[in-house]
Amino acid sequence: MKTLGLSAALLLSFSASYADDFPPVLDLPAPPADVWVSFDKADLAKPEAAGFPLAAPILSDGRVAVYQVRPDMLPVLSQFMHDRFKRCGGYLAHGSESAARASMRPSSAPPARAYTLDQQVVVTPLVKGVSEANIRGTISDLAAHHNRYYQSDTGVQAAKAIQARWAALAARMPGASAALFAHDAWKQPSVILTIPGSELADELVVLGGHLDSISGWGNAAARAPGADDNASGIAVLTEAARVIAESGVRPKRTIQFMGYAAEEVGLRGSQEIASKYASAGRKVVGVIQFDMSNFAGSGAGIFLLSDNVDPVLSAFTKRLIETYAGVPASETECGYGCSDHASWTKKGYPAAMAFESSFDGMNHEIHTERDTLATAGGDASHSVPFAKLAVAFALELAKTAPAAVKVTSR
Ligand code: BES
Ligand code: ZN
Repeated sequence: MKTLGLSAALLLSFSASYADDFPPVLDLPAPPADVWVSFDKADLAKPEAAGFPLAAPILSDGRVAVYQVRPDMLPVLSQFMHDRFKRCGGYLAHGSESAARASMRPSSAPPARAYTLDQQVVVTPLVKGVSEANIRGTISDLAAHHNRYYQSDTGVQAAKAIQARWAALAARMPGASAALFAHDAWKQPSVILTIPGSELADELVVLGGHLDSISGWGNAAARAPGADDNASGIAVLTEAARVIAESGVRPKRTIQFMGYAAEEVGLRGSQEIASKYASAGRKVVGVIQFDMSNFAGSGAGIFLLSDNVDPVLSAFTKRLIETYAGVPASETECGYGCSDHASWTKKGYPAAMAFESSFDGMNHEIHTERDTLATAGGDASHSVPFAKLAVAFALELAKTAPAAVKVTSR
């Protein structure tokens, strides 16, 4: 059958080190723990997709084709998509056929909502407290883990280190907590910091970024500092949470900071969380994704993605940048579901994503051992406005309880 021949040919084109990393594809049929990967059919119909290394999909509709593969096939697919489409990934991975089937259902558009910008009295002074040195310190700490790969011990240790940092912040806020979110199919957990809302506790505001890193197409032993992709996003979230924790401000809605596991292998951590929230009928008023904030490849400013996002929330986020971040807001396009915002969008939740540059100006050292703080200029200055945006997004969407406004007597 075509599949085997082409897969084998693709494998042969790999360097020896890659080939050593996974068993030959010819060992089919597959053992347990298969993965279901979904591709956009429009992509597969393009000339660039000639020689696509999988045979017939097991599920298909007008838009999406789903294939059942061994996990070892993921790096092959990533490299294929990268070579042909000049993008990193370009597929979604799911842990079961039913999860893949669920992801095919077109998501209902989020209900229309009006976001209001009326927390200047609280937010304007707070964003002044964002510290470049703190963000830089967190990036350095995270990049010091050998890698944060979703299947490596250091990837688990890194997630636990983030939980410990976030738990120390949670301890400063009444009722707040930082928990690990375990995933059945791999060992790295996601991390969720919850600040409970004082009035509308069942309505959530989610700020996220992925905590995993990867080198090449996946190797649990390889060095993957992931300073920009995505220690920078986790550092932005951590600094925003610190500013809020130390301010004494309490939100009306519940705020959750999320560090997602396993983004680099098909948005797997965030898909599991978004699916769980959707099945439980949880109300999420807005999601923002921070993935890569520290490389100024297109000069100063924050770039909002224009695809796989909610246009109303993105327009509101642009206003937040203009009001609070002190840098210009621009738009850019990934062209595919390039990060965890896409997991929420797929489940019908309104999501936005803040990025460091235009797509063309991105940091080209990501997914290599050269994704270090030095590559991004050695400091975290480009990330500072992102942390200001995170504080503003959290508090403008959650709103603050009146008691939080400090009254100073003369
Ligand atoms: N940070 C990247 C996504 C990215 C890259 C955004 C360049 C904008 C410009 C992210 O960590 C990543 O690598 N995502 C994967 C997603 C895939 C596995 C579904 C990708 O792009 O290949
Ligand atoms: Zn990445």
